[in-house]
Amino acid sequence: MFDARYSIRTHVAGDLRRENVGEQVTLAGWVHRRRDHGGLVFIDIRDRSGLVQCVFDPDASGAAFATAERVRTEWVVKLTGTVRPRPDGTVNPNLATGEVEVIIASAEVLNESVTPPFEVDSAIDVDEVLRLKYRYVDIRRPEVLAALVLRDRVTQRFRKSLEHRGFMEVETPILTKSTPEGARDFLVPSRMSPGEFYALPQSPQLFKQLLMVAGVERYYQIARCFRDEDLRADRQPEFTQVDIEMSFVEQDDVLAMMEDVMHEVMHEAGQDLPVPLPRMLYSEAMERYGCDRPDTRFGLELVDVSTVFAESEFKVFAGALAAGGAIKAINAKGAGDWSRSRIDGLNQFVLDAGAKGLAWVAFTTEGEVRSPVAKFFTEDEMATLRSALGVEPGDLVCMVADARAVANDVLGGLRLRLADDLELARARWSALWVLDFPLFQWDEENKRWDAKHNPFMRPFEEDLPLLDTDPGAVRGYSHDLVINGLEIGGGTLRVHDPELQMKVFRLMGMTDEDAQRRFGFLLDALKHGAPPHGGIALGLDRLIMLLAGASSIRDVIAFPKTSSGSCPLTGAPDAVSAAQLGELRLRTQ
Ligand code: AMO
Ligand code: AMP
Repeated sequence: MFDARYSIRTHVAGDLRRENVGEQVTLAGWVHRRRDHGGLVFIDIRDRSGLVQCVFDPDASGAAFATAERVRTEWVVKLTGTVRPRPDGTVNPNLATGEVEVIIASAEVLNESVTPPFEVDSAIDVDEVLRLKYRYVDIRRPEVLAALVLRDRVTQRFRKSLEHRGFMEVETPILTKSTPEGARDFLVPSRMSPGEFYALPQSPQLFKQLLMVAGVERYYQIARCFRDEDLRADRQPEFTQVDIEMSFVEQDDVLAMMEDVMHEVMHEAGQDLPVPLPRMLYSEAMERYGCDRPDTRFGLELVDVSTVFAESEFKVFAGALAAGGAIKAINAKGAGDWSRSRIDGLNQFVLDAGAKGLAWVAFTTEGEVRSPVAKFFTEDEMATLRSALGVEPGDLVCMVADARAVANDVLGGLRLRLADDLELARARWSALWVLDFPLFQWDEENKRWDAKHNPFMRPFEEDLPLLDTDPGAVRGYSHDLVINGLEIGGGTLRVHDPELQMKVFRLMGMTDEDAQRRFGFLLDALKHGAPPHGGIALGLDRLIMLLAGASSIRDVIAFPKTSSGSCPLTGAPDAVSAAQLGELRLRTQ
């Protein structure tokens, strides 16, 4: 509710209702729309709360009428008048204030506006760069403002829910040393130490761990993170995490806390999230959905048909199996009657995704079988394939034979594409935990193990011996929160033993000196009585994007960057003066 104490206004436009009829009100806001009906002028006045129709009648006030004839859209005005019911037949049921109007007695122009670059109307499609250049006009559009309002409410709810559970917010440095989260760092040159650089944090990861060593026990922060990576609809160079860390916990404690908080946050946004959430192991997610952030709102699951073709004469299949690979399949129900060229489109899709080809069998609704490869299959193989995939007329079986990871990855992508093509109905929400990621993945280019999440993930106790024999098989205590096929959050239990942490760094190809130089402060801290601890960070922008039903996180950030990392409003990034560069002892080129 509007608090009139700190304002030149008595009311806000969007609040006026039938109950206000007869009241004298002073409003201030923007001229949204102006209609000149000869004898009368109507102006919709808009502020953050919404808009209301104001009527200017020369008989009520000649001066106000003269002002109304002069103003243009987006001018800023202050209006005083009396609320009255709209005459019969002019009530607007689509507007919250549609039952009333304000007959104006006095009007004052507070400021003029040039013609706006686009109409302040959500229904109108405007080029995004133009919208971002004039973001202050864009935010006046109800839909854009609504996303910011939602963001504020959700953020407040996170704060309340976390404070309520004993978490305290602590700020951590922005000018810091590189923190590895798998992206490139943004660097800031130091004037006082020429030739040296701060890095902007990719996350507060190391500081939140230090806060656990420091005895803070339950930390959170609405934290800005910076990552120099290629941008996508769900990636910005700076973004916000709800960053959380807890001491003296097991993984179940972190998950239960996050579920309870998420339930409250979703409720705040008008959504019901049933908890506890389902859990899926990383290995299962990869096998059934071909990715570590499965969209479980629809089926089209991947099926391993390697055993069906164990004796296959089809060279492609036999070759893949002999090389230790797998044959994975998807039954695209409803695509059995697709044209050859449409199916060729799928073949091209898997080729682009890195497969060697798509082996497909179409079962038409007429009961016909079409396939370029079925001729290589025995009757037995066809029968087993049908039953393994529950084939019915109208189905299209898509198969990829390759290294297991490649087959999973390619079909994981094809699955999403098919769901779009088939316009599959999707439930509003599907949220789940994906647990127990491997600690490492092999980096072929640099011939070393790379951290799958970050190097601080605590390995399973029973997998510790594998660190020496088969690092790729070591599982860690990790938990990703996946909603509607998006990675909304990720976290782990951490290593709190300095020896074990050092061992992980060594496996990642760091010499002891490298590890000391980069992470000496963490290794030192772990020697000073580090409690067992773990946590998680949620991508706030992504969560709001889902809640707002937006298709890009740019829509839920007040001043986002374009996909090329620039800001059309300020012109950043920009060249700086030679003097500034000189102070920093830097040269460009
Ligand atoms: P992670 O790197 O998984 O974990 O990041 C956590 C969450 O942040 C969001 N996110 C992004 N959102 C927008 N733009 C980006 N460029 C971007 N990158 C990541 C995702 C992701 O799930 N320190 C660990 C957390 C921990 O272990 O506690 C971390 O940063 O939603
Ligand atoms: P080829 O014998 O190479 O002409 O392939 C016959 C069919 O198998 C073509 O439709 C290819 O798209 C498909 N194909 C080729 N390689 C693979 C593979 N690794 N997995 C699945 N299908 C494949």
